[in-house]
Amino acid sequence: MKRTLIQDLCGATGQTVMIHGWLQTLRDQKKMQFLIIRDTTGMVQVVLEKAANPELAGLISRLTAETALTIVGKVIGNPSVRLGGLEIQLESCRIEALAEAQLPIDPFAETLPAIDTRLDWRYLDLRRPENLLLFNVQTTALAAMREYWVQNRFIEIFTPKLMGSPSESGAELFELPYFETKAYLAQSPQFYKQMAMAAGFERVFEIGPVFRADPSFTSRHMTEFTSIDMEMSWVNAHEDVIVSIENWLQHVFRRVAEAHGQEIQTRLGFTVTVPALPFPRITMAEAMEVLNAYNYQLPPERKGDIDPGGERLLGQWVKQKFDHDIFFLTDWPVTARPFYHMRHPDAPGLTRSFDVIARGLEIITGAQREHRYDVLKQQAVEKGLRLDLIQFYLDFFRYGCPPHGGFALGLARFLMVLLGIQNIRETVFLFRGPARLQP
Ligand code: 4AD
Ligand code: MG
Repeated sequence: MKRTLIQDLCGATGQTVMIHGWLQTLRDQKKMQFLIIRDTTGMVQVVLEKAANPELAGLISRLTAETALTIVGKVIGNPSVRLGGLEIQLESCRIEALAEAQLPIDPFAETLPAIDTRLDWRYLDLRRPENLLLFNVQTTALAAMREYWVQNRFIEIFTPKLMGSPSESGAELFELPYFETKAYLAQSPQFYKQMAMAAGFERVFEIGPVFRADPSFTSRHMTEFTSIDMEMSWVNAHEDVIVSIENWLQHVFRRVAEAHGQEIQTRLGFTVTVPALPFPRITMAEAMEVLNAYNYQLPPERKGDIDPGGERLLGQWVKQKFDHDIFFLTDWPVTARPFYHMRHPDAPGLTRSFDVIARGLEIITGAQREHRYDVLKQQAVEKGLRLDLIQFYLDFFRYGCPPHGGFALGLARFLMVLLGIQNIRETVFLFRGPARLQP
């Protein structure tokens, strides 16, 4: 017999079907047994009149919550049943794997255990439909991202995560033994996506892991995360990248809203709003004026950078002024940006760069890159980088590299914004942080 998904049972009334799933709850009454079975598409009630099959009833009464089962029975329409107005009259039940009686966490408890306890038992925590929804949304979002890029002549690349020298800066770098020498885990595909520009690919993207030895314990940092990177050639300025991003993001929001908007509303109580074009652009100079007007003090050590509190405040200001949840924060000072960002020809203290702030959270950093070998080398020297370590990268620019720009989006941060989730640990399959390498 072929498996029927629980979501398809409404079309099968009167038929005998086979379903697979987990035992969500069992109500073992004097004369009747009621099982709620859950698969990835929904839940259904299964009933057995004990007197009709005492042997089967005996087996059912020994079942524990979360046991994996195969059920065969007849689908009966029953308007008084809340779950889909139908139930299955149990004919046979096969125990695929009995769950141990004492669950270490109850993923379906009224109040959930603390996040750290849930992460210890992530495979049980993930059984909640809210989590399944999150990863279905992620699948839709990634497909929409690829769809947009493939339609716009982008090539997907996969660059090495083992590197002979740092990929961004010496900070936040994981080092590991590599035969007779040392290797580093990639902090970003930055150098290699630029190599693709030097290689004449014109437009590339990569979706893959990056590693940051960042010791911070915040709700938005991980030591390993999925980075969504893009790079495009023949740009005139960072505005070309910005326009590409807003169109791409709008497409992704639209696809997610179409496919999951309703379920996100009912399960998470959150409305996915497709952002209108164009997204506001705020220069860093304007942002500083706004923060000043609110008397917001930035920590002095941030060298022209903005801290998370400042990002949130700007997000609120943009929401009030432009009724927009997402904006571009542009033209960052050289002090707050890496050496490879191109500088403004008429304002050399500023870079042609931007962040995307969404619901007060940085989700993207991008820029036009410096593609002129001599200028790039000079900027690296100014930032105090060791040229011998990055010469392989500088060489990319010696034989005709077009002007280009690009960005990186953190996948888990994007899901926080997309679904209104406050902690990044909830939006990743398995969280990696300074104090977590398990499971
Ligand atoms: O801002 P970041 O460090 O920029 C780069 O990696 C550049 N190479 C991008 C470029 O093309 N110029 O990282 C990009 C994004 C951030 O905006 C954030 O969404 C995410 O990656 N991110 C993190 N996500 C989770 N945990 C961390 N520790 C993150 N660090 C950055
Ligand atoms: Mg950044």
